[in-house]
Amino acid sequence: MKAVVLVGGKGSRLRPITRTVPKAMVPLRNKPYIHYMVDSMRAAGLDGSVLSMGYLPDPIQRHFAGQDLDIFSIEYVVEHSPLGTAGGIKNAEGRLGDGPFVVTNGDVLTGLDLAEVVEAHRGSGALATITLTAVEDPTAYGLVEVDHELRVKKFVEKPGIDEIHTSLINAGVYVFEREVLDMIPAGREVSVEREIFPALQGMGKLGAYVSSSYWRDIGTPRSYLAASHDVLSGAVGRAPDFEYASIDPSVRVSKGVALLPPVCVAEGCEIGAGATVGSRTSIGRNCSVGEGATVEGSILFDGSRVEEGAIVRNSIVGPGAVVGGGAIVRGVSVLGAGCVVGKGNVLGEGIRVNPGGHLPEGCVTF
Ligand code: GTP
Repeated sequence: MKAVVLVGGKGSRLRPITRTVPKAMVPLRNKPYIHYMVDSMRAAGLDGSVLSMGYLPDPIQRHFAGQDLDIFSIEYVVEHSPLGTAGGIKNAEGRLGDGPFVVTNGDVLTGLDLAEVVEAHRGSGALATITLTAVEDPTAYGLVEVDHELRVKKFVEKPGIDEIHTSLINAGVYVFEREVLDMIPAGREVSVEREIFPALQGMGKLGAYVSSSYWRDIGTPRSYLAASHDVLSGAVGRAPDFEYASIDPSVRVSKGVALLPPVCVAEGCEIGAGATVGSRTSIGRNCSVGEGATVEGSILFDGSRVEEGAIVRNSIVGPGAVVGGGAIVRGVSVLGAGCVVGKGNVLGEGIRVNPGGHLPEGCVTF
């Protein structure tokens, strides 16, 4: 059995990171997100996956070009204009074989056992099975109500407070029978959530699998940071050689540095004297953290630089970005690729700086 992974979206909520890096390639503990998804498919015994791409396909294809995945196959279909979530599935039709297949969004991190979902689908009589997960604050998502036979009864988008009768939401992982492909019109943008699922629900053919496994989407800066913290803590995607403090042997660590687990520092980095790195922090390849600087609860992409005395807290620093000496970047701020935050700036409250942006010395206190 194969899986379609939808990785063609623009990831606008995670801008400016996704201006240059596709959402599927954002690092979690210095491994691209898509790698965790592929690992869970291999663990479930699937034969391979078809990555349904559109926006920024090249970095994903380059990543897998050098990987040995044993007998697990990776194929690509690339759309020239966005086909939507259902159109992206339809576009993979020729690669999926005869029987049922798995579909996943390419931005959900989960400890779900895909083999269990497939098992629940088989013999249920449903044309599609949708995995549901309970969330604490369902108002940010569409709710899914099910009946006593685990058939989907109703979708409630943006529920008002008196419409909340369940905390179950669509977890973005499905099993489809091939007949569902015939319901998706070809050659135009089609949404699986807004068009195909309501049609299946109306036919009484949409089953549900309720999961209590770890689940989080990585689609916003806040949820991406939370997912990173969870992976660093070993709560999900934990490989057998997992270490709470994973510091590549090539990293140059000066005197008096505090490396606070969970922490992951990739090869070629340099940490200056008296700096604090961690906890819940991942630092990509060839980054530098200057003397006395602090990086906490954050994600630094490859080639970024945090200069002397700067503080980066609970924020995302894009590839090759620079945080100047004594600057403060905090409060879920996001710096795009190659941008420069000049000395002494103070950024907070979710501020986002576009790729290549340059904030002159001391011009922002936010
Ligand atoms: P936002 O713009 O932040 O909403 O992100 P997104 O573009 O990823 O959209 P959304 O989160 O709704 O998409 C869910 C999943 O479907 C993601 O993994 C997307 O990559 C994928 N996706 C969204 N639109 C398309 C599309 O037009 N084609 C393909 N192939 N995949 C898509």
